[in-house]
Amino acid sequence: MGVPAAGRLDGVAAFGTGFSSSMGHSYTPCVVAGTFVTLEGPEGSGKTVVARRLAEELQRLGRRVVLTREPGGTRLGERVREVLLGRSDLGIDPRADALLFNAARAQLVAEVIRPALARGEVVLCARFADSTLAYQGHGAGLPIDELREIARVATGGLEPDLTILLDVDPEVGIRRKAPGARNRFESIDLAFHRRVRDGFLALAREAPARWRVVDSSRHIDRVFDDALALVQAEIADPVRA
Ligand SMILES: Nc1ncnc2c1ncn2[C@@H]1O[C@H](COP(=O)(O)OP(=O)(O)O)[C@@H](O)[C@H]1O
Ligand SMILES: [Mg+2]
Repeated sequence: MGVPAAGRLDGVAAFGTGFSSSMGHSYTPCVVAGTFVTLEGPEGSGKTVVARRLAEELQRLGRRVVLTREPGGTRLGERVREVLLGRSDLGIDPRADALLFNAARAQLVAEVIRPALARGEVVLCARFADSTLAYQGHGAGLPIDELREIARVATGGLEPDLTILLDVDPEVGIRRKAPGARNRFESIDLAFHRRVRDGFLALAREAPARWRVVDSSRHIDRVFDDALALVQAEIADPVRA
């Protein structure tokens, strides 16, 4: 496999390859597992910005980091992203949504995330399987257990070591984005986004060992400080409760 095709975030040539300088290093029989961190949260909660700053800071501290995002992060995934987030009139059914997101996810896991973890790197991913549970489950009303099963097939059972929920009132989050830049989901009514937010909070309550909730209504610097501390704690002590 070549260099991971990660690292385009909101159209900016980004960190996937640049942060990953492990090309050519030899494979040890005892594979050191990396750290898989996902950022979740409603629209405009700061996932993209915080993920980018985390990648920069961790790299400055000497870590090998792969920064990626969903949907996307691979050539296939970015094409699926165009279909999913375009302001199209495709009338995509929630079940088709769920399957398309998971198709992109399967490719991302196989092509980018698993190889990076096998190299012992830190993988930062803006959105992952929990977004499907929150949006197509809590938001659009599909059965959560069915969505979990689809995601399990897509990921081969891979779960994040740490999931940071950037929690903010969706009204505040959506207002942070320019109306012209809103994607298909960001244009859905506020009630949908409130269900999504509550869904994320419910997921966090159900699995407190994996999730940490950060109040993302505060200044971006405070949000970033908290997220960095959480990632550093995870790297230092991966088996903490
Ligand atoms: N805590 C914050 N306070 C004020 N503005 C923020 C904050 N977090 C993010 N933003 C701004 O809101 C917009 C959306 O942030 P972004 O990281 O793209 O959100 P997401 O990826 O979660 O949808 C950006 O313009 C970003 O700079
Ligand atoms: Mg984003």
